[in-house]
Amino acid sequence: MIINNWYVAAQSSDVVDFPYRTRMLSCDFVLFRNNDKNIVCLSDVCCHRGGSLGRGACLNGRVQCPYHGWEFGSDGRVELIPSLGPDAKIPRRARVDSYPVEERYGLVWVFLGDMPEAERPALPELLPEYGDETTWRMTRLQRDWNVHWGRLKENLADASHLFLVHSFGKHLSPEMEIFPVEETEWGVRIPQTYGQKPDENSQTAVNAPKAKVQRDKSSVLIEISVIGMIQKNTQLMSSGYNQIIWNALTPIDETHTRHYNLHFRNFQMDAKHDESMKKTIDWGLQEDADVIDFLQPPMTPRNFSDEMFIEPDGPEKAYREKALKLGRELGTIDWRRKRDIAMEKTLVIPSPARREGGSWLHDTVPLL
Ligand code: FES
Ligand SMILES: [Fe+2]
Repeated sequence: MIINNWYVAAQSSDVVDFPYRTRMLSCDFVLFRNNDKNIVCLSDVCCHRGGSLGRGACLNGRVQCPYHGWEFGSDGRVELIPSLGPDAKIPRRARVDSYPVEERYGLVWVFLGDMPEAERPALPELLPEYGDETTWRMTRLQRDWNVHWGRLKENLADASHLFLVHSFGKHLSPEMEIFPVEETEWGVRIPQTYGQKPDENSQTAVNAPKAKVQRDKSSVLIEISVIGMIQKNTQLMSSGYNQIIWNALTPIDETHTRHYNLHFRNFQMDAKHDESMKKTIDWGLQEDADVIDFLQPPMTPRNFSDEMFIEPDGPEKAYREKALKLGRELGTIDWRRKRDIAMEKTLVIPSPARREGGSWLHDTVPLL
């Protein structure tokens, strides 16, 4: 699991009047809104004696620990210790890590790492379609997987399983056309064009109203970003029926992943089709789960020679290489050592304030 990266921590609508507790990179976090209604993300573990702040309350724009009532402000510092009284001097160590937060696409993004703002990788803007309600109808889906994030991410980049695993892929040829993979600053992109005629019998074509814009060729653009753990699939079909499948993955721990999906379509734009569209997407994801839940080893191997890559696996291989490279640059958690230590010691993801020094109660996660 990579630190110094942006991860979706919640839907914006999850963070309302009470603390929202969530687990990312095998550590716990609490989200709440301060008095300015801005979302704050703190390490969940109280620096007093280990209470879970996410199980506490929102009070005076702060979060209150449910055990002895210490109140934490937006910067993670304790602002009130009830047992010492309101005028007591608060010890400097009485603080937890506070992480940078950005709201985008109705999602709460948190930067889990200690890089100062100037050095931080920027979340790539891969979704200019968001908010364009004239062209697109959007649905939102969230799903938890019992798989390692790398296994899921590679599955989303993998086109050679579609003909076999998916009911929507039954008409596809198993033989793959190979398209060059381009490396980008944040990951990889694979532009593809197909010359075939639109499939008149596809469910979409049958159910959809007549498309306005038809093209000679269909194009599919796959963009995979390690930064933000995003995968976007833009399908502009010769039939004129277009869709965009956008995914962001957040590792919960080594073998569980939270998946945020935004789906855009330019057909069946009426809201009454939303539920059936979501069911169709979820059905497809379940078809993946029925296969990838059983992959061995559970985590993506770090050695390429532990698996066989053939030419059609190019996108997955390029993505894995990029993830390993950025993981080395940004920092990768040593899960073995973390697991050993974490039974009797709280380990947290370092936040930017750690670079300013000072004394902290909790140690940070060991890195490879
Ligand atoms: S454990 Fe949080 S206030 Fe005591
Ligand atoms: Fe799939």
